[in-house]
Amino acid sequence: MPSTAQDTATDRGRTRVVFFSTQPYDRRFFTRINDERFVDDGFDLVFSRDRLTVESTALAAGADAVCVFVNDDVSAPVIEALRAAGVRTVLLRCAGFNNVDLDAARAAGIAVARVPAYSPEAVAEHAVTMLLTLNRKTHRAYNRVREGNFALDGLLGFTLHGKVAGVVGTGRIGVCAARILHGFGMQVLGSDPYRNPEFEKVGTYVEPDELFERSDVITLHSPLTADTYHLIGKQALDKMKDGVFLVNTSRGALVDTKQAIKALKSGKLGGLAIDVYEQEEALFFHDRSHSFIPDDVFARLSTFPNVLITGHQAFFTGEALDQISDVTLSNLRALVRGEDCPHLV
Ligand code: NAI
Repeated sequence: MPSTAQDTATDRGRTRVVFFSTQPYDRRFFTRINDERFVDDGFDLVFSRDRLTVESTALAAGADAVCVFVNDDVSAPVIEALRAAGVRTVLLRCAGFNNVDLDAARAAGIAVARVPAYSPEAVAEHAVTMLLTLNRKTHRAYNRVREGNFALDGLLGFTLHGKVAGVVGTGRIGVCAARILHGFGMQVLGSDPYRNPEFEKVGTYVEPDELFERSDVITLHSPLTADTYHLIGKQALDKMKDGVFLVNTSRGALVDTKQAIKALKSGKLGGLAIDVYEQEEALFFHDRSHSFIPDDVFARLSTFPNVLITGHQAFFTGEALDQISDVTLSNLRALVRGEDCPHLV
């Protein structure tokens, strides 16, 4: 008869971690960092491509910890099933924890740790990459030139220098974005319930409404919470300048996608760049090119020439993956040793 997960771990004297929603690069980075820096800790890493759901919790049988990513389901029923499987720790290999029912985890005695920051510059750089691409249409120019079409009609952009950039959420990533935009010669406005002195070196705080009214470009860097859900909906969009560019590399549900589509049709939104999407868990991180897009809202969105979509890749640099692997396994080490883990949520 199989022993319980705790017995199994104790018997082996090793700590077993089952990873969900993994891609080949997760395996590559985590295995290398584990071999290089955690060899004496006795971590056994098991990689599954499955998304964590109630059904897939069976894969966690015999594990001490599970390691999850942004679109894994860590709701109360999943936590209950993990608890029954003997899991004592949930390691988030990301910053956001909106997909975790923290009350349920606390009640189940399951520790939840995250990676609060991993190359915030990488995310900010991607947000600005998207803005530049969408504005100067380099993605379209690339295809044209490859086909021998050197016409410029349809590629007209605007000069960022002298324009107003609104940064919603001036935490780690927002500050990096603000610095870059300030470097372009933009006037930077910020909105955040908490003031960050680092932001004030390059930008000015205003109320959200003023930011919406004055900005030519708005970039979102606040977490998804009950307060920020559909922060960019009809009301906010109505206040914005006609032709405003909106960039979202934070979490999809900050933007009410159906309202954004209406604003694209009316010309209120001049450009929309998103690395995250409300219903992304059904689409992102997998090759679906041989199939069709079952999500009609997403399909409509992708027909606009002034919409640029990437599949949650803002974090995706070697430096960031290195840090994610190192901090995730350091969190596990601290919890296994009963030491203080600074990244508990
Ligand atoms: P952070 O915690 O350093 O900063 C978030 C800021 O948002 C804080 O200053 C907070 O006070 C502020 N905020 C909270 N509610 C707000 C509101 N209603 N209006 C304006 N500001 C508000 O977080 P960090 O590291 O800057 O990350 C921001 C978000 O970026 C994460 O929550 C995550 O969702 C997303 N992210 C996306 C990645 C990607 O690959 N696309 C990678 C990493 C993070």
